[in-house]
Amino acid sequence: MQDLWSEDLAAQAHRGQQLGSALCACDGSCHTLWGSLRIAGVNNTMKGEASTLAELMAPFLRDGMRVLIGGSADPGVLCGIGRIHAPRIPAFTVIDKCRAPLALIDEFASAKGVACRTLHLDLLDLDGTEQWDQIVLHYTADFMDAHLRSRLFRNLAGSLAPGGTLICATMTGESPPADRQPEMEAAYIARATALLKDSLPTPELICDLVRGAGLRLLKIHQTARARRSHAGMDVVDTSSIIVAGK
Ligand SMILES: C[S@@+](CC[C@H](N)C(=O)[O-])C[C@H]1O[C@@H](n2cnc3c(N)ncnc32)[C@H](O)[C@@H]1O
Repeated sequence: MQDLWSEDLAAQAHRGQQLGSALCACDGSCHTLWGSLRIAGVNNTMKGEASTLAELMAPFLRDGMRVLIGGSADPGVLCGIGRIHAPRIPAFTVIDKCRAPLALIDEFASAKGVACRTLHLDLLDLDGTEQWDQIVLHYTADFMDAHLRSRLFRNLAGSLAPGGTLICATMTGESPPADRQPEMEAAYIARATALLKDSLPTPELICDLVRGAGLRLLKIHQTARARRSHAGMDVVDTSSIIVAGK
C-alpha cells in the first residue's frame, strides 16, 4: 500500500513556489522558497526528532482525536504527525496566517484522501470557541515576537479540550548572565570585524600570487565599489583588474 504520508518533495517545491508567488505576503516570501530549502536539506521538518516525538506522544494517542497543527509551512508537519498517529487517522485541522501553505496542504490532503481542514487564521486570534484534543506547535513560536508568546500559549490552552495535550517543539537556549553581556557583545563585534577584514584579499596579495606564479605584472586597475562602515572601521571594497604576462 502506498504510504499515506509520503511526500513528493520536488513536486511540492515546484507547486509551493507557484502558490507562494501568488499568495504569500510574509516577510521574505518565506513560503515561496520553503519547499526548495526543504529539498535542498536546508530545513528539515521533523527529521531527526520524529522518533523522540513519537515516544513522547505515544501515551496520549487515542481513537477519534481532533488534532490541530498550529502553523505549518507545507504538508511536512501534517505528514510527520500523521505517521506518529498511524494506523489511526485523526481529524486534522491546520491553521496558518498565510494562505500559501494552506493551499498546498489542501491539495496534498485531497490528493491523498485525508480529512484535513485548513483555517486561514492568526493563532493569536483563537478564542476557544473550537476545541481540539491535541495541539501541535512545531517551531511556530520561534517565529513570533517574544512579547506575543504568552498570549499564544493562553489561546492554545483555551482551545484544548479537557484532558487534551499540547505538543510544542521550539528552539531554546540559555541567555548569558547579565554581567557577562558586554563581554559577549565585544567578543561578537571583534569576531565579526575580523571576518569582515579577512573576507577579501588585498590587491597586493593577489599581485604577489601572480608574481609567485612566474608572471609579470603589466597593469593594475582598481575601481572603488562600496564603502562599508562597521564597528567604527571604514572598509572600501574595490574591484581589481590585473593584467599579467608570461
Ligand atoms: C517557519 S514555519 C515552521 C513550521 C513547521 N516547523 C514546518 O515545518 O512547517 C512557521 C509557520 O507558522 C506560521 N505562523 C507563524 N506565526 C503564526 C501565527 N501567529 N498564526 C498562524 N500561523 C503562524 C507561518 O506562516 C509559518 O507557515
